[in-house]
Amino acid sequence: MPLVSMRQLLDEAAKGGYGVGAFNVNNMEQIQSIMEAARETKSPVIIQASRGARAYSQDRFLYHLMIAATEIYPEIPTVLHLDHGNSVETCKSAIDMGFTSVMMDGSLMADGKTPSSFEYNVDVTRQVVELAHAKGVTVEGEIGCLGGIEDGHGAGVDGLSHLTDPEQAVEFVKQTGLDALAIAIGTSHGAYKFSSKPTGETLKMARLIEIHNRLPGTHLVMHGSSSVPKDLQDIINQYGGKLKPTWGVPVEEIQLGIKNGVRKINVDTDNRLAITGAIRKVFMEKPEEFDPRSYLKPAREAMKKVVALRMTQFGQAGHAGDYAPIPLEEMARRYEAVAV
Ligand code: G3H
Ligand code: 13P
Ligand code: ZN
Repeated sequence: MPLVSMRQLLDEAAKGGYGVGAFNVNNMEQIQSIMEAARETKSPVIIQASRGARAYSQDRFLYHLMIAATEIYPEIPTVLHLDHGNSVETCKSAIDMGFTSVMMDGSLMADGKTPSSFEYNVDVTRQVVELAHAKGVTVEGEIGCLGGIEDGHGAGVDGLSHLTDPEQAVEFVKQTGLDALAIAIGTSHGAYKFSSKPTGETLKMARLIEIHNRLPGTHLVMHGSSSVPKDLQDIINQYGGKLKPTWGVPVEEIQLGIKNGVRKINVDTDNRLAITGAIRKVFMEKPEEFDPRSYLKPAREAMKKVVALRMTQFGQAGHAGDYAPIPLEEMARRYEAVAV
């Protein structure tokens, strides 16, 4: 089946009361890991690429790898989503290339660092909604800022500095007409989120529930949702790595979020850890190896295991065959009908 809109996947997830993991990719092996995990667990998938990933893969390589994924795995509803678009132009270039969903992260200015004003955020997000919906493409926006910094993107503060204000969230959804809303509830991008296991108070789960109660029809998105499992940290350190002790977002808290309107869960770091651990292991145990396949195959397998586990934990497993894809043209007609 062709690449599908994220709106359709999230609407179906809302009906079924489950969440859908959105996994970041930069290369062929990561795409293969996700698609294999999807086939094994019969899951719909969201594959997302950051600006850094688009630059790394020269954009077109990534796009054609995704087309290969739809050909090889025709039974899996698959979304290609732009993660943290920093400007209207970035989102437009993704839509022009064939992304079926884009994030306009107007919570930060176009430099990807400076927290923006509410008015700026509404303005750029609204512009992206107009041009995306005309093509049936889904739009995710963000209100509030996450902590941390990844590849130059992020406010570079802790996760609690710019939490989402529920009142503003309601106004933001009303003024932009977006499809999915990323909220800041205390998570950060990257491996170093918390220095001890977080509770529902460390993570602002009560705030998430309040936002959901005020916006019951809006699909919520949790960024920075890697769980940073200790076993993956241990493998890296056992084979010569130097990760400092750290904690991520417990899967139980994500599952509580899913019960309260979270439909998209962003995971990148856990897969980076799995890949790195597997490669380090081969390098240490078989220093004579120099064929890249000798370490990329175990890396691909390690990432597949993490993704398959998350698909099961988020509840998307078993749902790949629930629905036929709605063509983007039909999605565009539906948006137009609602706007009139
Ligand atoms: O939000 C950030 C994702 O983990 C992607 O990271 O910008 O280093 O590709 P990146
Ligand atoms: P992690 O760093 O927790 O995997 O978050 C990824 C993310 O939010 C991508 O947008
Ligand atoms: Zn993010």
